[in-house]
Amino acid sequence: MAAFGSIFMPRMALATFDNNQWGESRIVPSDSIPMHPGAHVLHYSSTCFEGLKAFRHADGSVHVFRMDQNIKRFSQSSRLLALPEVDEEQVAQMIKDIVAEFANDVPEPPGSMYIRPTHIGTEAIIGKAAAPSLTSMVYVLLSPVGDYFSGGAHALRILLEENGQRCAPHMGMIKSGGNYASALGPIMKAKEDVQADQILFCPNGDVQETGAANFLLIDGNEIITKALDSSFLHGVTRSSILTIAKDLGMTVSERELTVSELLERAAKPGVEAVLSGTAAVLTSVGTFIHNGKEFKVGSGEPGPIAEKLRKTLNDIQWGNAQDKHNWLTKIV
Ligand SMILES: Cc1ncc(COP(=O)(O)O)c(C=O)c1O
Repeated sequence: MAAFGSIFMPRMALATFDNNQWGESRIVPSDSIPMHPGAHVLHYSSTCFEGLKAFRHADGSVHVFRMDQNIKRFSQSSRLLALPEVDEEQVAQMIKDIVAEFANDVPEPPGSMYIRPTHIGTEAIIGKAAAPSLTSMVYVLLSPVGDYFSGGAHALRILLEENGQRCAPHMGMIKSGGNYASALGPIMKAKEDVQADQILFCPNGDVQETGAANFLLIDGNEIITKALDSSFLHGVTRSSILTIAKDLGMTVSERELTVSELLERAAKPGVEAVLSGTAAVLTSVGTFIHNGKEFKVGSGEPGPIAEKLRKTLNDIQWGNAQDKHNWLTKIV
C-alpha cells in the first residue's frame, strides 16, 4: 500500500480571492499552482487546511462525513490567521464538485477518499510580516487512502511530555502548518530517544493532544477527555466518538485530566487509551513513557471498547448503520 496521502487525483477544485472577493471556483490540474516566491504564505505561514473523508457505500453511492464541521473549522482557522474570510457555501460546493468528479475513484471500504481543503495567502509581498495577505487561494485536493490498519493494529508507545508544548497556546485550535512544524523537533527526538510513536503533549501536567490526534481515556463506562479550549484542535472524530459513546450509554467527561490521574487510572486492568483523528479513526495506546519509566495501559493491547467505538463509527461512515445524526452528505 502507498504511504498515506502520497497519491493524488489529477485534478482539484480551486478558487482565488482578489479585489476583496472570491472568484468562481474551477477544476484545474492538481500537479502545480502558480505562485510568486515572495508569496505571503511562504514567508509568514498564512496557511490552514482541513482533512475529511468521502466513503463508498455498498450500493455504489458516495458520502462525505461531517463536511459542515470541517468547513466551520476551516473558516475559523482562516479568520484566526487573518486570511480572507472563506465563503463556506463555495467551499462546500468545491468539495462536492471534486468528489463527484472522482466518485468512481473513491476506494471500497476499508479505504476512503481523503479530502484536503487548503487556504493560503498568495500576496507577493515580503514587507508584510505584521500584516495580512490581501489575496489568497483555496484548493481542494483528493487522495485515495487504503486501510490504515492493514498489517494489524498495534498499540502505540506514547511519550508523556510535561515540559514542552505542541504549539503556541493560542494557536492550538487552528489547523495550520506552523503548528505541525513546531511539534516536529520534539516528536523526532522522542522517536530517537525512547522509540515513541508519538508525543502526548501535557504542558504542566495538563493532558492535551498528540502531534496529529486527540486523546481519550476509557475507564469502564466512562470516557474522559480534555474540555474544549483554544489550546488544542477540536477534532471532528473526537466529537463523533463522544456522541456515539453517549448513544451507547457511556458517561462522557469533558474536563481537565492530569498526568498523575492518567497514570493512576491507566494502571487499572481494563482501562483503555486511544488517539482519535480522521486518518486512523481510533488507535489504541499500549504504553506510556514518563520520566524514563514505562507504564502499560490496561493489558497493553488494543481493547474491546475502542474496537466497538471504532466499528460503530465506521458502520455509519460505510452505510452499514443508520446515520441518525445526519453526518453524511450524499455526493452521488
Ligand atoms: C493536532 C491534531 N489534533 C487532532 C486531530 C483530529 O482531528 P479530526 O478528528 O478532526 O481529524 C488532528 C487531525 O487529524 C490533528 O492534526
